[in-house]
Amino acid sequence: MTTARITIDRDFTIGSVPRRLFGSFVEHMGRCVYTGIYEPGHPAADSRGFRTDVLELVKEMGPTVVRYPGGNFVSGYNWEDGVGPVEDRPVRIDGAWHTIETNAFGLHEFVDWSREAGVEIMEAINLGTRGVDEARALVEYANHPGGTAWSDMRRRNGAEDPFDIKLWCLGNELDGPWQIGHKTAHEYGRLAQETAKAMKFVDPTIELVAVGSSNRGMPTFGTWEHTVLTHAYDEVDYISMHAYYQEHDGDAQSFLAEAVDMDAFIDGVVSTIDAVKAAGKHTKDVNISFDEWNVWYQTGLDTDDQPHQVSKGWRAHPRLIEDTYNVTDAVVVGTFLNSLLRHGDRVHIANQAQLVNVIAPIRSEEGGPAWRQASFWPFARMSALARGQILRLAVSSDQVETKKFGGVDAVDAAATWDEETGRVALFVANRSLEDAADVSLDLRGLSASRIRSAEVLTIPDDGDRFSANVEDDQDRVTLRPLDDAALVDGRLRLNLPALSWSVVELEVATA
Ligand code: AHR
Repeated sequence: MTTARITIDRDFTIGSVPRRLFGSFVEHMGRCVYTGIYEPGHPAADSRGFRTDVLELVKEMGPTVVRYPGGNFVSGYNWEDGVGPVEDRPVRIDGAWHTIETNAFGLHEFVDWSREAGVEIMEAINLGTRGVDEARALVEYANHPGGTAWSDMRRRNGAEDPFDIKLWCLGNELDGPWQIGHKTAHEYGRLAQETAKAMKFVDPTIELVAVGSSNRGMPTFGTWEHTVLTHAYDEVDYISMHAYYQEHDGDAQSFLAEAVDMDAFIDGVVSTIDAVKAAGKHTKDVNISFDEWNVWYQTGLDTDDQPHQVSKGWRAHPRLIEDTYNVTDAVVVGTFLNSLLRHGDRVHIANQAQLVNVIAPIRSEEGGPAWRQASFWPFARMSALARGQILRLAVSSDQVETKKFGGVDAVDAAATWDEETGRVALFVANRSLEDAADVSLDLRGLSASRIRSAEVLTIPDDGDRFSANVEDDQDRVTLRPLDDAALVDGRLRLNLPALSWSVVELEVATA
């Protein structure tokens, strides 16, 4: 048995929960848009072709903001191709994913879908093949009320009122040699600065995300952020981070500890931002948009049915990187969400990549059903319950040994306290593959009167750590009541199964 002691104090807070932390991502890639969120002719499609079965799952999962339309796709995309009468839109080659883009779905459709889903839009512009002029035109098209060429085109295309898109990404992964229009940090930094300036001239209320490193292992990581921000610090509001993780060579214990890497990655970017701030004598803060994160099995999968990265042959919406997530992956996703929440003072936006089918918590089949992957649950519960203040926890936990990180806390936790509703939400993973964890939670300055709910995601009774939800067994991995949860002398006592993620909601009063 592993033991851990967690202490929370209502006066030790990190900041308020940034609701944009629970973001997602819809890219024109594989079957995320086509046969994912949009499939005219599907029995559950509405008159606009939006799959209402998928929409219901999206609403249940609760993303607050959705990044669109890419991803690598955006670096070769002409936004004008996706507006106007559908029959007049050009069919194009998408070089990033080697697929055919019909443009049947574009900006207006995404705005309508977002309103239906109740999410904020985070729009990415193309700084791979395009630049300042197209970016400012798009802001004018989307946000200017009317009376100008671009805004009147929007109105002619059926949207009288501006879309009022506040959040914009200045391109995607332009540090990566795989990106269409890959740039050096100097080239990108200057372009981002000038594009940001021109976009804010059109609409000064927008918020802008500069491209950071595509992952922590990039040879330019650190110097890229430093150079880009040295150019564009005054013009931008956020710098992006991207990270994908997977289990390597069956080393599940190291995989389960990858949030240690995520923590260090975030701390490194914060240090770089603040070094540029100090050297440039800037007064405002630039914060982080962790706008792509997830588990992604980038190695090991490459079949005709499930090709890795790009499509084999020019096809519209091929099946790309449709990873099936098991119990282990879901627990890891829970620890990533904990890491993001613990850094909520500087990570103000985060997007799990992606929303449907493509490395996604929701799966759908063409003409068939839609269902929740195992990784759906930590996201859904945290988005629903993380409210109010993020608490700074003191955690004293037994360790698990990992090859990659050495000794790591077996128990990983994050928590929030909402003074208005009088609720504390605790999100806690037991990363040990072998031992249950006996956890006690001490509350200071708060007294707990009742456990409102306690749920756990773990290995099904008749399953193993690879158990997953698939089309003909859609609810194999789900949340179930955490029976071993009790308030004893004002303290919360939990017994967490090995390899599990749990969420406990307490009713509290200030003491
Ligand atoms: O999310 C899949 C891809 O991963 C995105 O298109 C790209 O930005 C990243 O490399």
